[in-house]
Amino acid sequence: MRELVRPIVQAPMAGGISTPALAAAVSNAGGLGFLAAGYREPEGVAVEVAELRALTDGPFGLNLFAPAGPPADARAVERYAARIAAEGELGEPRHDDDHFDAKLALAAELAVPVVSTTFGAPAAAQVEALHAAGCAVWVTVTTPAEAELALAAGADTLVLQGFEAGGHRGAFDDLAPNDLGLLALLRLVAGLTEVPVIASGGIFDGAGIAAVLAGGAAGAQLGTAFMLCPEAATSPAHRAAIESDAPTAVTRAFTGRRARGIVNRFMREHDAVAPSAYPEIHHLTAPLRRTARESEDPARMHLWAGQSHSRSRSIPAAELVAELAVETRGARTTATAGSAHRG
Ligand SMILES: Cc1cc2nc3c(=O)[nH]c(=O)nc-3n(C[C@H](O)[C@H](O)[C@H](O)COP(=O)(O)O)c2cc1C
Repeated sequence: MRELVRPIVQAPMAGGISTPALAAAVSNAGGLGFLAAGYREPEGVAVEVAELRALTDGPFGLNLFAPAGPPADARAVERYAARIAAEGELGEPRHDDDHFDAKLALAAELAVPVVSTTFGAPAAAQVEALHAAGCAVWVTVTTPAEAELALAAGADTLVLQGFEAGGHRGAFDDLAPNDLGLLALLRLVAGLTEVPVIASGGIFDGAGIAAVLAGGAAGAQLGTAFMLCPEAATSPAHRAAIESDAPTAVTRAFTGRRARGIVNRFMREHDAVAPSAYPEIHHLTAPLRRTARESEDPARMHLWAGQSHSRSRSIPAAELVAELAVETRGARTTATAGSAHRG
């Protein structure tokens, strides 16, 4: 993190949204671009890393999903499948570990500069293996307790994900309370450790970045703010929803794990009965969400987005990083002048 020219991290966004072109544009602009390895086969991840390396000599990150807990209650999944059957084609609700060990080994083999995990921390021995390969290890946390676990495993940097954030909650346990807003989480964790922390959730401009830097963060990780960039593979229906001022909510309706998205009909109709069952429900709903995306039907898609989505800018990623950097400097100067004036 310290070698970054700009304290701006482009969040990994699984489902194809954070492309090598997006990550390269951010890294080339002095920020840190990220690839998302979640849901992908290791072979596909290796191809994306090679594509990214062809586009940038800068540092970049690769994000992995830590394995989910034990298999979900099969009857709860069956009940939910019966409930949503009329929505369209359903998939097989299987349990898997998203090839976590194979992707960790791949990241080490490819000496990826930054490896981050969400939904949990790697084991201490896995962190050691990544360190031996020259990889820095970042772990996403949503509570001080998760921060302690990540530090005990040997994490080099913590990514603090506030409740404002778009996409899945990075919580280690989907059923544990993890609703802390970003400022509360930042101030609660900043005092626990000397390791750098990156703040994430609802940040869309330089004033937001300056605010988390003032709160003790070494940088800011922005997701939704990059989703309208031409380099992102965000679908047209998803782009239109992000440009709107529609409200967001956290739901298990699409994947069986809490995630923040723009409220739509599917979420409204099924949220209250969706069980905690990840990745079973992710696999169950995958075909119907794919069809919805292909037919541009926003009522049945997961429209992941953070609380500030309507302020995302439809400009190339390099321009966005440059604008954010200028705004951050301006906001920091204003804050300093303000305190001098008052003080
Ligand atoms: C579409 C989308 C996909 C996401 N996928 C991932 C992912 O694969 N891994 C991950 O660690 N975080 C993922 N996130 C969460 C981001 O890392 C980050 O916490 C979030 O985008 C920050 O909030 P913001 O969107 O308001 O900036 C995703 C977020 C979005 C919006």
